[in-house]
Amino acid sequence: MSYLKTRSLIATVALTFTSPLIAGDDPLHERHELMEGVGDAAKPIGQMLKGEQDFDAAVVMTSLKTFDEAAAQFGELFPPGSETGEGTEAAPAIWEDRAGFDKALATWSDAVDAAIAANPQTVEETKTVAGPVFNACKGCHDDYRIEDE
Ligand code: HEC
Repeated sequence: MSYLKTRSLIATVALTFTSPLIAGDDPLHERHELMEGVGDAAKPIGQMLKGEQDFDAAVVMTSLKTFDEAAAQFGELFPPGSETGEGTEAAPAIWEDRAGFDKALATWSDAVDAAIAANPQTVEETKTVAGPVFNACKGCHDDYRIEDE
């Protein structure tokens, strides 16, 4: 068995015995995957806004829907006992200030909902609605994510 597999197995076993899990079996892994998907979905929007990629309203909408789905699930992936392990970048502040974290998540979710409702059809329109969405990414990361580089 590889080192990584062994490590995640140990983490999973430890979690099973120490905490009531409300999400899946491996919230650390799930939230990493979810945010990685969010990061990938953000890229084409960023490139369109910089003129590095042709504008495509359908691609923008697909990314916004990815954010929407992630926002709906993300909050459940931080149960007690999942503070550390698997190289998580989640900051202790998530557990110390859960209300603040939930608020940062709601701010993001609201901005995403507004962007979807606006259904942007041009670069300018996208810029207007994506601004608050990306500000909310940064707002949450500033307080609740520790970047490992
Ligand atoms: C409510 C808080 C919050 C919001 C909003 C948020 N993030 Fe995150 N993000 C996190 C946390 C916490 C982590 C670390 C998760 C972990 O490692 O357990 C993270 C991790 C990431 C990662 C690293 C994924 C990996 O490889 O582990 C990327 C990329 C990312 N976020 C992009 C984004 C983008 C882009 C947005 C907005 C479109 C966004 N995030 C919005 C909290 C947030």
